[in-house]
Amino acid sequence: MRMVDIIAKKRDGKELTTEEIDFVVQGYTQGEIPDYQVSAWAMSVFFNDMTDKERADLTMSMVNSGETIDLSAIEGIKVDKHSTGGVGDTTTLVLAPLVAALDVPVAKMSGRGLGHTGGTTDKLESVAGFHVELEKEEFIRLVNEHKVAVIGQSGNLTPADKKLYALRDVTATVNSIPLIASSIMSKKIAAGADAIVLDVKTGAGAFMKTAEDAKELAHAMVSIGNNVGRKTMAVISDMSQPLGLAIGNALEVKEAILTLQGKGPKDLEELCLALGRQMVFLAGKADSLEQAEEKLKEVIQNGKALEKFKHFLANQGGDASVVDHPDRLPQAQYLIEVPADQDGFVSGIVADEIGTAAMLLGAGRATKESEIDLAVGLMLNKKVGDPVKVGESLVTIHANREDVADVIAKIKENITIADKADAPVLVHDIVTE
Ligand code: URA
Ligand code: CA
Repeated sequence: MRMVDIIAKKRDGKELTTEEIDFVVQGYTQGEIPDYQVSAWAMSVFFNDMTDKERADLTMSMVNSGETIDLSAIEGIKVDKHSTGGVGDTTTLVLAPLVAALDVPVAKMSGRGLGHTGGTTDKLESVAGFHVELEKEEFIRLVNEHKVAVIGQSGNLTPADKKLYALRDVTATVNSIPLIASSIMSKKIAAGADAIVLDVKTGAGAFMKTAEDAKELAHAMVSIGNNVGRKTMAVISDMSQPLGLAIGNALEVKEAILTLQGKGPKDLEELCLALGRQMVFLAGKADSLEQAEEKLKEVIQNGKALEKFKHFLANQGGDASVVDHPDRLPQAQYLIEVPADQDGFVSGIVADEIGTAAMLLGAGRATKESEIDLAVGLMLNKKVGDPVKVGESLVTIHANREDVADVIAKIKENITIADKADAPVLVHDIVTE
């Protein structure tokens, strides 16, 4: 087989075989095929797309390029949830204990990463003592006995994706549906998921800016999952404004606690139910999505979800008393209000820019070396569609520095007020096949 022939075949719009795709992926991972040939191949995929079969082959070839996590010692169907990323997305913190309370095994591997706030691991570490450095045996025991545990990222998973993603980044080939879909799905499958629930975001704070693109990506991923034997469903959700009210690490833990008590922000609760019901259904713990949703509401109301969160924290060394006393979470030194300068209705809260404002306070990492301040962040006092009076607070800044003029300026630039505005639709679509 010669790489040049494979490039020409794809350039001419023909379907590549399983062997040809594997030749590209393994050859590139092992350093046998140079960047310039894989660049040309990626560009031909960008223009000519891939069939469903090619997408499934590409995904599995990337899974097989490195180590995979074996979760077979965990009983039940392991359902993993993946979000394409947003601002103030507190869903994982809520969903892990929520679905575990219905005996859905949650065996989560979680990293730190760069972003407006930390990742799930950073957020959870705002609970004193909580840690994700578990031995694999301990991790498996915790999931079997308590249905939920989080372990730090380890192992050389999907090296082909790492290399290809870096190459795509500098060859203008990131924005290709088959390449994005196979990239995301390969990572979930390598991490041991039997079934996958996807939250594909759309809007200013999202990777996919329009609902149409988000829908296409969701269909592509659901189809890959189902073609490689992992039942997959997706929700397409709004990320034009941040999710919930809290953006920050400890602030989001507090928001998750409220949501598990049934007292959280309505949009966060709605999205958690939309994703949670798919997880419960795919795990085989309900006969229909409707029944799954009823069960989720029940464990919120009867306190079992909250109880599960306490055990989860304590199992991994965390001080579970924060659940009843959220003031024991890290607190910022200064609380500063950002008042509205006119009457009207909030018409826009630009998600990614507001996320950047939180990052300026130290809530997230700009580089791998940056330190996160777990206490700082933003609390939105208004969401899009809410009425507001001049002087009323739009946002409360939680800061550990006194001068936050840069943060205030960023917030004011990115929250607009108009004579009339409606709340955006949160769940745009549900993709189940
Ligand atoms: N996120 C990924 O993990 N992969 C892509 O290709 C794009 C976004
Ligand atoms: Ca939030």
